Amino acid sequence: MMKDLLTLSKLTSADVKAIIDRSAELKQMQKQGKVHHPLANKSLGMIFEKSSTRTRVSFEVGMYQLGGQALFLSSNDLQLGRGEPVADTARVLSRYLDGIMIRTFAQEMVEELAHHASIPVINGLTDLHHPCQALADLFTVQEKKGGLKGLKLAYIGDGNNVANSLLEACVKTGMHFSIACPQGYEMDPKVLAEARGAARETGSSIETTGDPYQAVMKADVLYTDVWASMGQEAEHAKRVKAFQGYQIDAKLLKAASPEAIVMHCLPAHRGEEIAADVIDGPQSVVFDEAENRLHTQKAVLEMLMGK
Ligand code: CP
Ligand code: NVA
Repeated sequence: MMKDLLTLSKLTSADVKAIIDRSAELKQMQKQGKVHHPLANKSLGMIFEKSSTRTRVSFEVGMYQLGGQALFLSSNDLQLGRGEPVADTARVLSRYLDGIMIRTFAQEMVEELAHHASIPVINGLTDLHHPCQALADLFTVQEKKGGLKGLKLAYIGDGNNVANSLLEACVKTGMHFSIACPQGYEMDPKVLAEARGAARETGSSIETTGDPYQAVMKADVLYTDVWASMGQEAEHAKRVKAFQGYQIDAKLLKAASPEAIVMHCLPAHRGEEIAADVIDGPQSVVFDEAENRLHTQKAVLEMLMGK
């Protein structure tokens, strides 16, 4: 049984399937109004070094629904922001809390925190990974399509944290992954190499291209994310230029499977990575996707912090 959720690469295919299936059960229980308190008397600390709407609210509400409580810890207010070592922060918080969720910049910082913490640590987004997002995304695909294996997901845009975690999730579940990025904005080569290894075991294929039309051919899921992520605000203008031609618009959507669904982790920039008529159109599932963050994270919290 794993202690932390730092990247999806460490999970087995069975782990990913178990989280997705449990998410469906917890969602149904919630809709039926069933009380389920496996985390009674447990506390989750949530450290944020970047902004958040979905992650913060869904973790906080998720803990409440599971019978526990969540503490919002802004790094501006923690001693961490004034230079207290990560290792000391991890050891101190382990004396009070039952779990930590952290959103920060460097993946290494989350790894260090987890190494020194005796309680589970959950990655709520780093510059390199966004595992909770990808779990909710595949749960959403499963809900909409009835399964995952053999489906094709096409990602258009920046080879960023969201792309990395999606790739890792796809190769664990036998989904085919195709990504179109402009030159200079491709995925992390280490993440790609590791995913290629996992893909051989599950029968997934991985395609990298510069051509969005090639990527979306026969795709069941179209996915995009912002061109400038948190921490890259100063590069925004340069990136908007570099990503011209990489918008999911009605024409690109038409080139995918006619039944394709459109996904975006949000927040979205209409008119940049996605056209308004597509994200607000009938094939978009972005708000179900956002809702599902709550259900998959409850499955993760229950798995890591229960018992
Ligand atoms: N998708 C996502 O992680 O959203 P927030 O930045 O609002 O948490
Ligand atoms: N790639 C985006 C995702 C936001 C949820 C970012 O890191 O800002």
